[in-house]
Parts: sequence; structure tokens; C-alpha cells
Amino acid sequence: MSKIRLGVLGGGGDSLIGVLHRVASHMFDRYEIVGGVFNPNYEDNLKFAKHIGVNTERVYTDFETFVDQEVKKPKDERIEVVSILTPNFLHFPMAKKLLENGFNVICEKPLTTSYGEALELEALQKKHKAIFAVTYTYTGYPMVRHMKHMIASGELGAIQKVDIQYYQGWINPVIHDPEVRKTVWRLDPKKAGISSCIGDIGTHAFQMTEYLTGMEVQSILSDLNMLYEDNPLDIDGTVLIRFSENVKGVIRASQIATGEENGLTVAVYGKKGAFKWEQENPNFLYHMTDDQPKRIIKPGNAYVSDVAADGTKLPGGHPEGIFDAMGNIYKGVAKALRGEKAFDGEYPTMNDGVRGMLFIEKVVESHKKGNIWLSLDK
Ligand SMILES: NC(=O)c1ccc[n+]([C@@H]2O[C@H](COP(=O)([O-])OP(=O)(O)OC[C@H]3O[C@@H](n4cnc5c(N)ncnc54)[C@H](O)[C@@H]3O)[C@@H](O)[C@H]2O)c1
Repeated sequence: MSKIRLGVLGGGGDSLIGVLHRVASHMFDRYEIVGGVFNPNYEDNLKFAKHIGVNTERVYTDFETFVDQEVKKPKDERIEVVSILTPNFLHFPMAKKLLENGFNVICEKPLTTSYGEALELEALQKKHKAIFAVTYTYTGYPMVRHMKHMIASGELGAIQKVDIQYYQGWINPVIHDPEVRKTVWRLDPKKAGISSCIGDIGTHAFQMTEYLTGMEVQSILSDLNMLYEDNPLDIDGTVLIRFSENVKGVIRASQIATGEENGLTVAVYGKKGAFKWEQENPNFLYHMTDDQPKRIIKPGNAYVSDVAADGTKLPGGHPEGIFDAMGNIYKGVAKALRGEKAFDGEYPTMNDGVRGMLFIEKVVESHKKGNIWLSLDK
């Protein structure tokens, strides 16, 4: 079968997330990167394309030219799907133009910088019947997929409490000096949107909550921290969540949790049992019950669910990690693009992206209005 022709916007050699997507796209030999705009500076763009072996004839000056030139190509040569890996404010104009011109899209989170833009993209995606993935990377881990499957199968019984924490500390050395702050796009509302912490990592925690439980959060109450009056965006926040009157939880996110690295931890408690999982040790899933010792579930073993097995390449004891998680998401998108049978939740969808934007907006609104409960009804 021919490889899927992939284009890439952003994700240059200077970026954090580019290498993850490039490795992920190669992992199952399903894609070939055939063009893109890796960097706003054309010289850097060309240099990087040469470095990674992409034909420079299909490396363009900007995304408008990328789309205008690619649509002129015959269908069997044209790029089929485009990954958007730029800072947040570019996701919307790029995705909009791509959808309007018939491309499929893999977009980094947060989907846009406002809920209104997200709804606009959703309408375009439906109109053009495009495949659209939003890369909430952590859903690609086999143990996360196993948890989702087991929760749906009733392993935990009725869910009673969800506690998802995403703590990082990297903003601590940045936030105390206004001049240093200016160098970080995640703290600039023009580039990041209305939120730093909740938009960047709280949204992962929220998506994980709904992904694992299969339930939608009904309402939220938030308390954010900006630390300084001249810092406009949150860098820490706690959000109470309610699925219903008696199913509740908490999302805790921070970028100033000093010393923390990428501490996403997940706990789902049900009437019959609970699951606990940590992103920094992703091959260990803990299953707890009232009457048995804690069990450790690991990928690569015969006892895991089919969806977890499908997302694992090596036998048990060979640790796989975040590259593999993103690889699984790219595999899910490849299956969708080629019309192949797939498991439920093999890639996060437009709906995850839209709900993520609704969450961010409501969390910021709740805080501004004095920490009040707000509904997440559309
Ligand atoms: N899924 C995840 O776990 C995860 C992790 C990190 C970042 N992200 C998301 O990925 C996106 C990028 O984050 P990052 O940390 O890699 O940012 P970054 O600043 O490290 O890299 C951004 C890249 O985009 C390029 N770029 C900027 N403007 C451009 C333009 N006009 N045209 C083409 N390229 C352009 C830059 O040159 C750079 O290569 C953000 O939306 C972020 O939220 C997601």
C-alpha cells in the first residue's frame, strides 16, 4: 500500500514537539513527509528540510503558499494530511485554510485560541468530511487505552471520583522576572490564547478525564493563580468538576510546581475498584480493590486488552514511551484515512478539541467571576 503523503507546518529543528511527530509518523511505515513549512524563516526552513531529507521543491515560504501550491497538484501526488505543530494562535488560520481546501488535519492541542474558532473548524470539518485528529498525546499509551477499555467493560463499576493532576515546574525559573517572561510564547496572550497553564496542560487533564470515563463533565468551578498582577495568564489552577450530582472530581494543573517535570497522574475510583497511572512511568497501571492487594498491569503481556496489545510493539519488559504513544495516534489516523477497522478512541478527534476549548474558556470565566460554578453545556 502506498504511504500517506504528510505535510508538516511548524515543528522545525528548534521546536519541542516536532521530533515527536516526525518519529511517530515513521513508526509504522505508514507516512512519508513530502513537504511543509517547518519554520517562518525561509532559509531556516530550507536548511531543516535538507537536514531531514525532504524535497525542498515542496517546502514553501508560508502556509498560504503551501496550500495554494499543493491544491494545484494532481490528487495522487497532493499532500493528503497536514500536521499543525506551531504555537497555538496559528492553529486556527492554518486548519481553516486546510479544511476549506480539502486536506485532512492532525493538529496539536489546544485546538484554537477560542471556543468560537473551534466551533467554526468543527462545522468546516463536517462540511468537508475531513479526518481531523487533535494530538492529546497521552491517549496513545497502551495502559491508558487499557484503562479506558476496562472502565467501559465495567471493571470499576460505577465511577465515583476522578482525580487528575498535571504538575510541571518549568515556569518557576521564568515567571519572577518580567523580562525573562517575555521570551516565552506560552505566557503571551497573543500567541497562547486566554490561558497558559489550563490551555497548555489542564486541557490534557480534562481530555483524559472524559476519554477514560466515557462521560462528559457537566459543570466546573475554578481557582487560578497568575502569581503577579502584571502576568495576564494563569500558571496554576485547580478545577472542581461534576459529571452529575454524585459523580465528581478534581483537575489540578500547575506550571510552577517547583521541581516537577511532566507529572501527569491519573486516578479513577469506582464502586468496585480503581485505576492509578503516572505518565512518567507509563508502563505501570495500578488496579486497586477493597479486598485484594494492589495489582500491577503492564503492556506486552497476554492478559491486556486487544486495544492495548495493538498499541504495543515489543514483548513485556521492553519499555515504550511517549514517542510510541504519539506513534499509536498516527497509526489510528492512518487507519481512518485508509478506511481500515479501528478500535474506539485510537485518535483524539475534533470533538476532543472543541470540548477542550469550551473547558478552557469556562475555567477562565469561572475564575474571573469569583470562582463560580459554570455549566459546560454547549
Ligand atoms: N501534545 C503534547 O503533548 C504537546 C507537547 C508540547 C507542545 N504541544 C503543542 O505543540 C505546539 C507547538 O509547541 P512547541 O512547544 O513545539 O513550540 P515551539 O515554540 O518549541 O516550536 C514551534 C515551531 O513552530 C515554528 N513556527 C512558528 N511560526 C511558524 C509559522 N508561521 N510557520 C511555520 N512554522 C512556524 C517554529 O519555528 C518552531 O519550529 C503548541 O500548540 C503546543 O501546545 C503539544
